[in-house]
Amino acid sequence: MARPETNRFYLDACATAPLRPGVFERMAEVQAQAWANPSSLHQDGIAAAEALERARFQIASRFTALPDELVFTSSATESVHLALHGLAGRQATGRLLISAVEHPAVAGAAQQLSHQGWDVQEWPVDHLGRIRLDLIDELLAPPTRLVSLIWGQSEVGTLQPLLEVAEACRARAIPLHTDATQVVSQGIPSWCDLPVDLLTASAHKCGGPRGIGLLLVRPEWRAAMTPQLLGGGQEGGLRSGTPSAVLAAGMASAIDQVERVDPSAMAHSGNGIAHLRDAIRERLATDPRLEICGDPHDRLPHHLSLLVRDDQHQPISARHFVRCLDRVGLAVSSGSACSSGKDSDSAVLTAMGLPQAFRRSGIRISLGHWLSADDLEPIVERFQAGLEMALHS
Ligand SMILES: Cc1ncc(COP(=O)(O)O)c(C=O)c1O
Repeated sequence: MARPETNRFYLDACATAPLRPGVFERMAEVQAQAWANPSSLHQDGIAAAEALERARFQIASRFTALPDELVFTSSATESVHLALHGLAGRQATGRLLISAVEHPAVAGAAQQLSHQGWDVQEWPVDHLGRIRLDLIDELLAPPTRLVSLIWGQSEVGTLQPLLEVAEACRARAIPLHTDATQVVSQGIPSWCDLPVDLLTASAHKCGGPRGIGLLLVRPEWRAAMTPQLLGGGQEGGLRSGTPSAVLAAGMASAIDQVERVDPSAMAHSGNGIAHLRDAIRERLATDPRLEICGDPHDRLPHHLSLLVRDDQHQPISARHFVRCLDRVGLAVSSGSACSSGKDSDSAVLTAMGLPQAFRRSGIRISLGHWLSADDLEPIVERFQAGLEMALHS
């Protein structure tokens, strides 16, 4: 697929991405040949079970994980809930540590756990949205029993120092879950070398279908987890509900096209998409009305985050700007809109210490495999036209 829509530039990959080449065809093939219930004992069911397990094997291999370490879920949101509630369910309550810049899926799951007696503590971040590593010993001290850390922040793009936190958690035998939903869309880390215990990802951010995500979990923690959905006992008893071989095959086909990457080199993954991102950033950064937000170096390779001001240096509404950009053919997101679409201060910009007036002025540009270097000029031109429109309407 060259472009999701002609004469428009879709720059919202962090919200969802169009299907990668061949994914639709692969799903159509599995739908035609292996549409039955994978739990059924007849030949049709066996064909579906084979397609499901083939997809599981293919995805697990891409991560250098074992097939038994991969649980299919309906989304990253469900995966996060399974990870946190599943692990918390069998333990005595204690401190659950999350960063102050988690996706609402993690923040929401943590809030539920706080009603069950868990003491939820947020790891503060600096002005770049990076967790404060100087607090690591204090925050990992007892009674911390569970840690969840977003790897690549979806709103401002900052990559967290996951490996440092992971080593520290290992040394203290504290299970660590990472929400790698945005990171995995750009680079597949090697699970066997990654010192984390649970990892969440979602197919639709990677150019796969919506409706399927995954949780990677180490066997020793898997055995200690409480299932969240009870019923037919699918997914090794951890996640009941008839699995979709069609969606799993689509996810496998998409994940196969994401490059493998060393976990310490995530900022350089994305099949070179950072070149286009950097070129756009360079052109826009000369405009005094735009300020680059998030970590300038350690960031998701396809992600650009900006704060927008008028000529008097007053913040302008990101939602208004997003609508203007839409009118000139650019699809981007406002940082604070998140999934609900409500206008409110961005929790992420708030955690980063931005003055209140600027907390609704953040926009996110996120790129993907359907764009090329030739798109630079038209994107920059339209962006500038959209900015003038926003300032004068
Ligand atoms: C970091 C992160 N985690 C979780 C999610 C939720 O993903 P899903 O739509 O698969 O539930 C998103 C989606 O925006 C995300 O960016």
